[in-house]
Amino acid sequence: MKFKYEPIKKDYSDFSSDKLLVNAPRTPAFPVRVASEIMARSLSFLDTAEGLTLYDPCCGGGHLLTVLGFCYSKNLKNVYGSDIDAKALEYAQKNLNLLTPEGLAKKMETLEYDYEKQGKEVQLEALNSAKRLETQLFNTTYLKKDIQCFHWDITKEKPPHLKNVNIVMTDLPYGNMAYWQGEGAVQNNPNKQMLDNIYQTLDLHNSIVTIICNKEEKINHQKFEQVKRLKHGKRQFIFLRPLTIY
Ligand SMILES: C[S@@+](CC[C@H](N)C(=O)[O-])C[C@H]1O[C@@H](n2cnc3c(N)ncnc32)[C@H](O)[C@@H]1O
Repeated sequence: MKFKYEPIKKDYSDFSSDKLLVNAPRTPAFPVRVASEIMARSLSFLDTAEGLTLYDPCCGGGHLLTVLGFCYSKNLKNVYGSDIDAKALEYAQKNLNLLTPEGLAKKMETLEYDYEKQGKEVQLEALNSAKRLETQLFNTTYLKKDIQCFHWDITKEKPPHLKNVNIVMTDLPYGNMAYWQGEGAVQNNPNKQMLDNIYQTLDLHNSIVTIICNKEEKINHQKFEQVKRLKHGKRQFIFLRPLTIY
Protein backbone atom coordinates (compact mmCIF):
# COMPACT_ATOMS: atom_id res chain seq x y z
CA MET A 1 0.00 0.00 0.00
CA LYS A 2 1.17 3.47 -0.87
CA PHE A 3 0.61 6.06 1.84
CA LYS A 4 -1.50 8.51 -0.14
CA TYR A 5 -2.97 10.52 2.73
CA GLU A 6 -0.27 9.99 5.38
CA PRO A 7 2.85 10.31 3.19
CA ILE A 8 5.08 11.45 6.03
CA LYS A 9 5.75 9.29 9.04
CA LYS A 10 4.95 11.43 12.07
CA ASP A 11 5.58 11.00 15.75
CA TYR A 12 2.58 8.99 16.96
CA SER A 13 3.89 8.42 20.47
CA ASP A 14 0.97 10.34 22.04
CA PHE A 15 -1.09 7.23 21.22
CA SER A 16 1.37 4.73 22.70
CA SER A 17 -0.26 2.09 24.82
CA ASP A 18 -0.11 2.65 28.54
CA LYS A 19 0.72 6.34 28.22
CA LEU A 20 -2.84 7.68 27.97
CA LEU A 21 -4.47 4.92 26.01
CA VAL A 22 -4.54 1.38 27.28
CA ASN A 23 -4.40 -1.91 25.39
CA ALA A 24 -6.61 -4.83 26.33
CA PRO A 25 -4.82 -8.17 26.77
CA ARG A 26 -4.60 -10.14 23.48
CA THR A 27 -5.42 -7.07 21.40
CA PRO A 28 -2.23 -5.70 19.83
CA ALA A 29 -2.07 -1.94 19.19
CA PHE A 30 -2.87 -1.09 15.60
CA PRO A 31 -0.24 1.13 13.85
CA VAL A 32 -1.50 4.71 13.96
CA ARG A 33 -0.18 5.80 10.57
CA VAL A 34 -1.87 2.83 8.88
CA ALA A 35 -5.12 3.46 10.78
CA SER A 36 -5.13 7.09 9.69
CA GLU A 37 -4.39 6.22 6.04
CA ILE A 38 -7.17 3.62 5.95
CA MET A 39 -9.64 6.03 7.54
CA ALA A 40 -8.75 8.78 5.03
CA ARG A 41 -9.27 6.30 2.20
CA SER A 42 -12.62 5.26 3.73
CA LEU A 43 -13.70 8.91 3.85
CA SER A 44 -12.80 9.28 0.19
CA PHE A 45 -15.62 6.85 -0.70
CA LEU A 46 -18.26 8.98 1.04
CA ASP A 47 -20.28 11.89 -0.31
CA THR A 48 -19.76 13.97 2.81
CA ALA A 49 -16.96 14.16 5.32
CA GLU A 50 -18.91 15.88 8.10
CA GLY A 51 -21.15 14.71 10.93
CA LEU A 52 -20.29 11.07 10.40
CA THR A 53 -21.05 8.01 12.50
CA LEU A 54 -18.21 5.54 12.98
CA TYR A 55 -18.75 2.00 14.30
CA ASP A 56 -16.26 -0.77 15.15
CA PRO A 57 -18.19 -4.01 15.86
CA CYS A 58 -15.07 -5.89 17.09
CA CYS A 59 -13.55 -2.97 18.97
CA GLY A 60 -11.65 -4.99 21.59
CA GLY A 61 -9.97 -2.50 23.91
CA GLY A 62 -11.02 0.34 21.60
CA HIS A 63 -7.47 1.44 20.78
CA LEU A 64 -8.09 1.71 17.03
CA LEU A 65 -11.45 3.41 17.55
CA THR A 66 -10.02 5.94 19.99
CA VAL A 67 -7.09 6.78 17.71
CA LEU A 68 -9.56 7.42 14.89
CA GLY A 69 -11.75 9.41 17.26
CA PHE A 70 -8.86 11.77 17.93
CA CYS A 71 -7.37 11.95 14.44
CA TYR A 72 -10.74 12.44 12.73
CA SER A 73 -12.47 14.32 15.50
CA LYS A 74 -13.62 17.05 13.13
CA ASN A 75 -15.39 14.55 10.85
CA LEU A 76 -17.12 12.49 13.51
CA LYS A 77 -20.39 13.09 15.29
CA ASN A 78 -20.93 9.62 16.79
CA VAL A 79 -18.43 6.94 17.74
CA TYR A 80 -19.60 3.44 18.64
CA GLY A 81 -17.76 0.27 19.50
CA SER A 82 -18.91 -3.18 20.51
CA ASP A 83 -17.28 -6.49 21.30
CA ILE A 84 -18.22 -9.92 22.60
CA ASP A 85 -15.50 -9.76 25.25
CA ALA A 86 -16.78 -7.94 28.33
CA LYS A 87 -13.29 -7.63 29.81
CA ALA A 88 -11.91 -5.93 26.67
CA LEU A 89 -14.82 -3.48 26.83
CA GLU A 90 -13.63 -2.25 30.21
CA TYR A 91 -10.46 -1.06 28.44
CA ALA A 92 -12.49 0.31 25.53
CA GLN A 93 -14.57 2.37 27.92
CA LYS A 94 -11.43 3.87 29.48
CA ASN A 95 -10.05 4.75 26.05
CA LEU A 96 -13.29 6.15 24.66
CA ASN A 97 -13.74 8.30 27.79
CA LEU A 98 -10.72 10.26 26.57
CA LEU A 99 -12.73 11.38 23.54
CA THR A 100 -15.13 13.39 25.71
CA PRO A 101 -14.17 16.79 27.18
CA GLU A 102 -15.12 15.57 30.68
CA GLY A 103 -13.23 12.30 30.34
CA LEU A 104 -10.05 13.92 29.07
CA ALA A 105 -10.20 16.67 31.71
CA LYS A 106 -10.57 14.04 34.44
CA LYS A 107 -7.60 12.07 33.11
CA MET A 108 -5.49 15.23 33.02
CA GLU A 109 -6.44 16.08 36.60
CA THR A 110 -5.35 12.63 37.76
CA LEU A 111 -2.08 12.90 35.85
CA GLU A 112 -1.36 16.35 37.28
CA TYR A 113 -2.07 15.15 40.81
CA ASP A 114 0.12 12.06 40.37
CA TYR A 115 2.96 14.08 38.88
CA GLU A 116 2.85 16.62 41.71
CA LYS A 117 3.06 13.81 44.25
CA GLN A 118 5.51 11.47 42.55
CA GLY A 119 7.29 13.61 39.95
CA LYS A 120 7.84 10.74 37.51
CA GLU A 121 8.98 11.54 33.96
CA VAL A 122 6.40 9.14 32.45
CA GLN A 123 3.60 11.01 34.20
CA LEU A 124 4.79 14.32 32.74
CA GLU A 125 5.05 12.76 29.28
CA ALA A 126 1.50 11.42 29.54
CA LEU A 127 0.27 14.83 30.66
CA ASN A 128 1.97 16.53 27.71
CA SER A 129 0.44 13.96 25.35
CA ALA A 130 -2.99 14.68 26.83
CA LYS A 131 -2.51 18.41 26.26
CA ARG A 132 -1.53 17.85 22.63
CA LEU A 133 -4.45 15.49 22.01
CA GLU A 134 -6.82 17.95 23.67
CA THR A 135 -6.15 20.44 20.87
CA GLN A 136 -7.17 17.81 18.30
CA LEU A 137 -10.35 17.00 20.19
CA PHE A 138 -11.67 20.50 20.57
CA ASN A 139 -10.94 21.56 17.03
CA THR A 140 -14.42 20.37 16.04
CA THR A 141 -17.95 21.64 15.68
CA TYR A 142 -19.37 18.47 17.27
CA LEU A 143 -18.84 19.16 20.93
CA LYS A 144 -21.80 17.01 21.96
CA LYS A 145 -20.91 13.67 20.50
CA ASP A 146 -22.48 10.32 21.20
CA ILE A 147 -19.62 8.02 22.18
CA GLN A 148 -20.43 4.55 23.44
CA CYS A 149 -19.23 1.00 23.67
CA PHE A 150 -21.42 -1.99 24.43
CA HIS A 151 -21.38 -5.75 24.72
CA TRP A 152 -22.55 -7.42 21.51
CA ASP A 153 -22.04 -10.51 19.38
CA ILE A 154 -21.96 -8.98 15.89
CA THR A 155 -22.37 -12.40 14.29
CA LYS A 156 -25.69 -12.95 16.02
CA GLU A 157 -27.86 -9.89 15.45
CA LYS A 158 -27.86 -6.26 14.42
CA PRO A 159 -27.24 -3.93 17.37
CA PRO A 160 -30.80 -2.60 17.90
CA HIS A 161 -30.03 1.07 18.47
CA LEU A 162 -27.56 1.65 15.63
CA LYS A 163 -28.69 3.23 12.40
CA ASN A 164 -27.34 5.45 9.63
CA VAL A 165 -23.76 4.40 10.28
CA ASN A 166 -21.40 5.90 7.68
CA ILE A 167 -18.14 4.12 8.40
CA VAL A 168 -17.65 0.67 9.81
CA MET A 169 -14.01 0.01 10.37
CA THR A 170 -12.97 -3.15 12.10
CA ASP A 171 -9.91 -5.23 12.70
CA LEU A 172 -11.21 -8.81 12.50
CA PRO A 173 -10.16 -11.48 14.96
CA TYR A 174 -7.23 -13.35 13.39
CA GLY A 175 -3.88 -14.80 14.28
CA ASN A 176 -3.26 -16.27 17.68
CA MET A 177 -4.19 -13.24 19.78
CA ALA A 178 -7.91 -12.89 19.01
CA TYR A 179 -10.36 -15.36 17.50
CA TRP A 180 -14.01 -15.41 16.48
CA GLN A 181 -16.45 -16.27 19.22
CA GLY A 182 -20.23 -16.41 19.48
CA GLU A 183 -22.90 -17.50 17.02
CA GLY A 184 -20.75 -17.03 13.91
CA ALA A 185 -17.98 -19.21 15.28
CA VAL A 186 -20.50 -21.97 16.09
CA GLN A 187 -22.02 -21.81 12.60
CA ASN A 188 -18.61 -21.41 10.99
CA ASN A 189 -19.46 -18.37 8.86
CA PRO A 190 -18.70 -15.36 11.08
CA ASN A 191 -17.78 -12.95 8.28
CA LYS A 192 -21.06 -13.48 6.45
CA GLN A 193 -23.11 -13.15 9.60
CA MET A 194 -21.22 -10.05 10.66
CA LEU A 195 -21.78 -8.40 7.26
CA ASP A 196 -25.50 -9.37 7.30
CA ASN A 197 -25.86 -7.55 10.61
CA ILE A 198 -23.66 -4.58 9.75
CA TYR A 199 -25.63 -4.01 6.54
CA GLN A 200 -28.72 -3.26 8.60
CA THR A 201 -26.98 -0.51 10.57
CA LEU A 202 -25.77 1.46 7.53
CA ASP A 203 -26.80 4.66 5.84
CA LEU A 204 -27.11 2.82 2.53
CA HIS A 205 -26.63 6.00 0.52
CA ASN A 206 -23.47 7.18 2.22
CA SER A 207 -21.43 4.47 3.85
CA ILE A 208 -18.37 2.29 3.57
CA VAL A 209 -17.32 -0.84 5.43
CA THR A 210 -13.59 -1.23 5.85
CA ILE A 211 -12.43 -4.64 6.92
CA ILE A 212 -8.92 -5.20 8.22
CA CYS A 213 -7.84 -8.82 8.18
CA ASN A 214 -4.99 -11.13 7.28
CA LYS A 215 -3.98 -11.44 3.65
CA GLU A 216 -5.35 -14.96 3.19
CA GLU A 217 -8.91 -14.08 4.20
CA LYS A 218 -11.59 -13.99 1.45
CA ILE A 219 -14.31 -11.47 2.22
CA ASN A 220 -17.30 -11.05 -0.03
CA HIS A 221 -21.02 -10.72 0.47
CA GLN A 222 -23.97 -10.44 -1.91
CA LYS A 223 -25.14 -7.16 -0.36
CA PHE A 224 -21.79 -5.40 -0.87
CA GLU A 225 -19.51 -4.50 -3.74
CA GLN A 226 -15.78 -4.37 -3.17
CA VAL A 227 -14.53 -0.94 -4.19
CA LYS A 228 -10.89 -1.31 -3.17
CA ARG A 229 -8.48 -3.85 -1.73
CA LEU A 230 -5.04 -2.99 -0.41
CA LYS A 231 -2.28 -5.05 1.12
CA HIS A 232 0.21 -3.96 3.71
CA GLY A 233 2.60 -6.34 5.48
CA LYS A 234 0.60 -9.26 6.86
CA ARG A 235 -2.67 -7.36 6.55
CA GLN A 236 -5.17 -6.52 3.86
CA PHE A 237 -7.81 -3.80 3.83
CA ILE A 238 -11.07 -4.43 2.02
CA PHE A 239 -13.41 -1.54 1.29
CA LEU A 240 -17.02 -2.59 0.77
CA ARG A 241 -19.86 -0.39 -0.38
CA PRO A 242 -23.40 -1.55 0.43
CA LEU A 243 -25.72 -2.21 -2.50
CA THR A 244 -29.04 -0.43 -2.21
CA ILE A 245 -31.15 -2.99 -4.09
CA TYR A 246 -31.78 -5.22 -1.07
C1 LIG B 1 -8.12 -7.96 16.51
S1 LIG B 1 -9.16 -7.73 17.91
C2 LIG B 1 -9.64 -6.04 17.81
C3 LIG B 1 -8.66 -5.13 18.47
C4 LIG B 1 -9.13 -3.69 18.51
N1 LIG B 1 -9.14 -3.10 17.19
C5 LIG B 1 -8.33 -2.81 19.46
O1 LIG B 1 -7.90 -1.72 19.04
O2 LIG B 1 -8.17 -3.17 20.64
C6 LIG B 1 -10.63 -8.57 17.46
C7 LIG B 1 -11.75 -8.52 18.47
O3 LIG B 1 -12.87 -9.26 17.96
C8 LIG B 1 -13.62 -9.68 19.08
N2 LIG B 1 -14.64 -10.68 18.71
C9 LIG B 1 -14.50 -12.01 18.50
N3 LIG B 1 -15.68 -12.55 18.18
C10 LIG B 1 -16.61 -11.55 18.20
C11 LIG B 1 -18.02 -11.49 17.96
N4 LIG B 1 -18.71 -12.56 17.62
N5 LIG B 1 -18.64 -10.27 18.08
C12 LIG B 1 -17.93 -9.16 18.42
N6 LIG B 1 -16.60 -9.16 18.66
C13 LIG B 1 -15.95 -10.34 18.54
C14 LIG B 1 -12.55 -10.18 20.04
O4 LIG B 1 -13.06 -10.24 21.36
C15 LIG B 1 -11.44 -9.13 19.83
O5 LIG B 1 -11.53 -8.15 20.81
